[in-house]
Amino acid sequence: MGHPVLSARNPFKLLAVDSDTDALGDIRTCLTGGELNIATASSGAEAIRILEFSKVDLVILDIQIRDIDGLSFLQYMRGQFKDIEVIMTASSPSVPDAVQAIKGGAANFLVKPLKPNDLLTAVERLLSKLAQRRALLPQSPPPETYGLIGISGGIRNVIERIERAAAINANVLIRGESGTGKELVARAIHYRSDRAAARFVPVNCTAIPDTLIESELFGHVKGAFTGAKDSRAGFFQIADGGTIFLDEIGDASLNLQGKLLRVLQNKEIHIVGSSHVRKVDTRIIAATHKDLPAMMERNHFREDLYYRLDVVDIYVPPLRERQEDILPLVNHFLGKYAKEMGLAPPGLSDRAIENLNNYSWPGNVRELENLTQRLLVNADNDILGVADLPGTMHRGVRPYVDAPKTLAAVEAEHILRILKSTDGNKTRAASILGIDRKTLRQKLKRIPPT
Ligand SMILES: Nc1ncnc2c1ncn2[C@@H]1O[C@H](COP(=O)(O)OP(=O)(O)OP(=O)(O)O)[C@@H](O)[C@H]1O
Ligand SMILES: [Mg+2]
Repeated sequence: MGHPVLSARNPFKLLAVDSDTDALGDIRTCLTGGELNIATASSGAEAIRILEFSKVDLVILDIQIRDIDGLSFLQYMRGQFKDIEVIMTASSPSVPDAVQAIKGGAANFLVKPLKPNDLLTAVERLLSKLAQRRALLPQSPPPETYGLIGISGGIRNVIERIERAAAINANVLIRGESGTGKELVARAIHYRSDRAAARFVPVNCTAIPDTLIESELFGHVKGAFTGAKDSRAGFFQIADGGTIFLDEIGDASLNLQGKLLRVLQNKEIHIVGSSHVRKVDTRIIAATHKDLPAMMERNHFREDLYYRLDVVDIYVPPLRERQEDILPLVNHFLGKYAKEMGLAPPGLSDRAIENLNNYSWPGNVRELENLTQRLLVNADNDILGVADLPGTMHRGVRPYVDAPKTLAAVEAEHILRILKSTDGNKTRAASILGIDRKTLRQKLKRIPPT
């Protein structure tokens, strides 16, 4: 049955990326002979989708793929998926390219047309290495992101603050627009903290009728009031030792605010109908999409309560301010719900991706999650295109909310955005912009520093 590492049951997954379909066919033939599980992609965009959907162990990457420079793609992979081994291939190899590739972390640099034996040997060697490495590190945990998908600076900052909040016992205030993931953040803090074994109790502050506040929060004894047929524990007792999540704290009535403040100050509760006072040890994490300081000015929110809650402040930015997260989130939810529905996750056309990226997502991640479910229900293609997206997402309809700008300002903004997307690589930026490097340099000189 051939080499043990290359047996049919081997756990490794390979990906070949080449814009030349003949070359892809050759690689596939050569390696499936070794009974390997191999996927192929003819563009960088397609490769990214595969990398994000499935755990790939080894990539065979051509230096000249259609939509992205192979060396930049190598850099992206090394940054994003540290554990992946890479073999680079080139049809017109140059020494500087080979040096760059090896420096950039590729394990091999093979010249095309590929000799089946060379390829097979290189692959076998790398997979043996991976197998050994994995055997040595049986359970190296994945980087902890608490189910928070995203690669933007904004989400990394949130994750960092979750870590810090989890390590201490202070109260937390999470701010952010509706649907940005505030509850997910609150749960992450609780389950990372040393309170994880006790309960996480979500309380929606809008949903408590004023007459029931005390009994809901602090519980009541049998016969405490008409209708109290049994004793019942309140949220603070249930969450004793754990965490109470006060959701929509900005919607709490002044009455509720007063009651909450008292528990925060005294760390004790009065159970309704009993003369008994009980000590409680609960951590408070509150969340709101409202501007509490503005509410305080109008006396709609108590300042003393605000300062008790806002010890650790976590702001979750809206999705439109972290565009890099859109595609990873879409892929994540397409994968998740496709699996639930027993479907193969569909791909997305480049134009569909562009439209998703340009949409302003007023409902944030929740809107995106709902959209992916709808897309799956209606999908009748393997690749979702622009026509599958709701009309509001069609390019160009995004309302122009910005102040009027000069043409030069728009041009400058566009140039800087493209340059950012190429990580400052001027050659690639110039090629995307359809101008030469010299023109780009001149234009950049004219952009005033910000
Ligand atoms: N970064 C993320 N990664 C994965 N899923 C996310 C992320 N952010 C949000 N979600 C998902 O989006 C949905 C909305 O998130 P959540 O309920 O936490 O938002 P919220 O800020 O509490 O919204 P609201 O203010 O409307 O209550 C949930 O299903 C959540 O799991
Ligand atoms: Mg919520």
